[in-house]
Amino acid sequence: MMPLDQSLVYLNGHYQPLCDAKISVLDRGFLFGDGVYEVIPSYQGRLFSLDDHLNRLKRSLESIRMIQPHSKQQWLEIFQPLLDPNKNQYIYLQITRGVTPKRDHGFSNDLVPTIFAMSAEMALTEHLPCGSKALTIEDTRWNLCHVKATTLLANILLRQEALDQQCAEAILIKNDLVLEGAASNIFVVKNGVILTPPQNSNILPGITRKVIIELIQHQNIPFQETAITTETLQQADEIWLSSSTREIIPVTELDSLLVGTGTIGPLWHTINSLFQEKKKHD
Ligand code: PDD
Repeated sequence: MMPLDQSLVYLNGHYQPLCDAKISVLDRGFLFGDGVYEVIPSYQGRLFSLDDHLNRLKRSLESIRMIQPHSKQQWLEIFQPLLDPNKNQYIYLQITRGVTPKRDHGFSNDLVPTIFAMSAEMALTEHLPCGSKALTIEDTRWNLCHVKATTLLANILLRQEALDQQCAEAILIKNDLVLEGAASNIFVVKNGVILTPPQNSNILPGITRKVIIELIQHQNIPFQETAITTETLQQADEIWLSSSTREIIPVTELDSLLVGTGTIGPLWHTINSLFQEKKKHD
């Protein structure tokens, strides 16, 4: 039998061991995936890009007709006991619409949201030393991909398809355009120019993506937010994937073919070094 996980979690105003945390089976998060979430990295106990994560949380909540239940200060107080100053972790925060007396698609506006937060350790060395493999796959998700909704059935099936083929990520394609990974944003380098798909409802407004764009622009490296075709992806010199839990992953093999020379590219090294520096001072 697996040992019970005693790590501390936050649920609806209280801290308790993970193994004791329980919600009602009538919680709309459980019944419908009716909720949103955030994943916030913490380096040695310091939350990274917290304002951006809380702003995205507010936008996600508003998109599903809910409101931000806490101020930044209150969130900090909630997260603090979950953080370890000696570890690289992430906070997983989930807010569902709450519990209803019976299962019903419709909802009233006076429900008490269920608020859950836990921390987990980050393992950040998976791409070293030779880069990761990825595959392309048709995007089967819905039309509100900018909302960080807990309803992730399509994403997990797409990611599992990649894992089954020994790949780190599935790169999602819609109408021959590259959108993002199943749980990451994407950057492509061609002839010294860094490209990333534009922000719209087809992709999540990734916080790591935002940080990377700021670093690129600060360095005056040629950059375009533009539609990327499958053909451009296939001919890329470099491909990177970005997320809060995996930072910037260089992809060196796509659909069993080498990306560029098949080694981690020079622009990845440049941007990743800047990112590692920013982590220390943010
Ligand atoms: N996922 N796109 C999708 C579909 C994602 O699920 C994620 C992150 C990203 C990257 O966003 P950010 O840089 O803000 O982490 C893009 C998180 C890590 C998850 O679901 O666990």
